[in-house]
Amino acid sequence: MSILVTGGTGFIGSHTVVQMLQAGMDVVIADNFSNSKPCVLDRIEQITGKRPAFELCDLCDKDALEQVFKKHPGITGSIHFAGLKAVGESVRMPVEYYRNNLNSTMNLITLSEKYNAKRIVFSSSATVYGKPKSVPIREDFERSCTNPYGETKLIIEYLLEDVVRADPEWSAVVLRYFNPIGAHPSGLIGEDPKGIPNNLLPYVSKVANGKLPYVHVFGNDYATHDGTGVRDYIHVVDLADAHLHAVRYAESRKGIDFINLGTGTGYSVLDIIDAYSRVSGKKIPYQIEARRPGDIDECYACPDKALKVLGWKARFNLDDMCRDSDNWQSKNPDGYPEK
Ligand code: UD1
Repeated sequence: MSILVTGGTGFIGSHTVVQMLQAGMDVVIADNFSNSKPCVLDRIEQITGKRPAFELCDLCDKDALEQVFKKHPGITGSIHFAGLKAVGESVRMPVEYYRNNLNSTMNLITLSEKYNAKRIVFSSSATVYGKPKSVPIREDFERSCTNPYGETKLIIEYLLEDVVRADPEWSAVVLRYFNPIGAHPSGLIGEDPKGIPNNLLPYVSKVANGKLPYVHVFGNDYATHDGTGVRDYIHVVDLADAHLHAVRYAESRKGIDFINLGTGTGYSVLDIIDAYSRVSGKKIPYQIEARRPGDIDECYACPDKALKVLGWKARFNLDDMCRDSDNWQSKNPDGYPEK
C-alpha cells in the first residue's frame, strides 16, 4: 500500500515526504523537476535514511503517468502537490497555467479511477477566498479568485466536488494553505525559488544574507495595526504534518472536505522583518513602496476545523519559522546545487 506524491521534490512536497518516510509510509514520488532539483532526493535520504521511490514524470503526459501506476500496483491514493504556482507568471502565461494545472489533475483523477486509488489529498490555497469579507477565514466562506493561478486551484476544487458527486467511492481532502514558510530544522531542505523571489519570506532571507540589498515593503496604508499587509504564516514542517493527518482522514471516510491550514494568527510585513532580524541577529534594510496590485489587507485562517476533523494544529511560532528559514538560507545561499 503506497501513496503517490506528485510534486514530491518541491518545497511542501519534500517536507511531507520526509515525515511520511519517518512514519513508515510507502511513498512513490512523481515529479518532472520543473521547479525543483534531483538532489532533493539525496537530501531526503540524508534526513530519513530512506530513499523514496521516484519516477521522473510530467503529469500532463497521461501515458507516462499510467506507467507509474502500472509499475507501482500498490498505490492506493495520492497527495497532489504538483502544479505551477507563481501568481505574477500566471497572469503573463494564463494558458500555460490552465493547461498544466488542469490537464495534470485530470490525468491523475482518470488514472486513479482506473487503478482503484480513489483517495486524494489536494494542495489548494487560501487564494480561493479572494478578498474575504472578514477574518478569520472559515472554510464555508464564499470562493472567488483574482488571477489564473488561483482560478486553477478553484476549478480543481469544483472538479473534485463533481468527481465525488459522480462516484461516492471517492475520498477527497482539499487543504487550503495560508502562507507556508520556514524549512526543515536540519537545513537540508527548504524553499528554493527560481530567480528573484516573489513571496515575502524568501525575499527577506536573501536580504538578511546579503544576496539582495533591501526588502520592498508593498504598501503601509492597509487597514492593519502598522499599515502593512497581514498574513497567516505557517511553518512548512507543521504543514507537512497536517498532510499525514489528512491522508489518514481520507482513508477513514468517503466524500469531500475542505480544510484551512494556518495558525490562526496574522503577522504584518514589518512584524516579519522585525522577528527575522531579531532571531537571526542580521540587519534587514527595507523601503516602503506602492501597494502590489491584487494584494489584500489581511488574511488569516480560522484553524478550528483542522483541529476538529484532523486532530491537528500548528506547533511552531514565528521565531521558529524565521530561525529555520535563516538556517536553510545560510547553509544554502544559492539554493540546491544543480547536480
Ligand atoms: C501569495 C499569492 C497567493 C499564493 C501565496 C503562496 C499574490 C497576490 N498572492 O500570497 O496567491 O497562494 O503567495 O504562494 O501573489 N510583500 C512585500 N514585499 C515583497 C513580497 C511580499 O511587502 O517583496 C508583502 C505582500 O504585500 C503581502 C505579504 O508581504 O502583504 C505576503 O506576500 P507573499 O509572501 O507574496 O504572499 P501572499 O501575497 O499572501
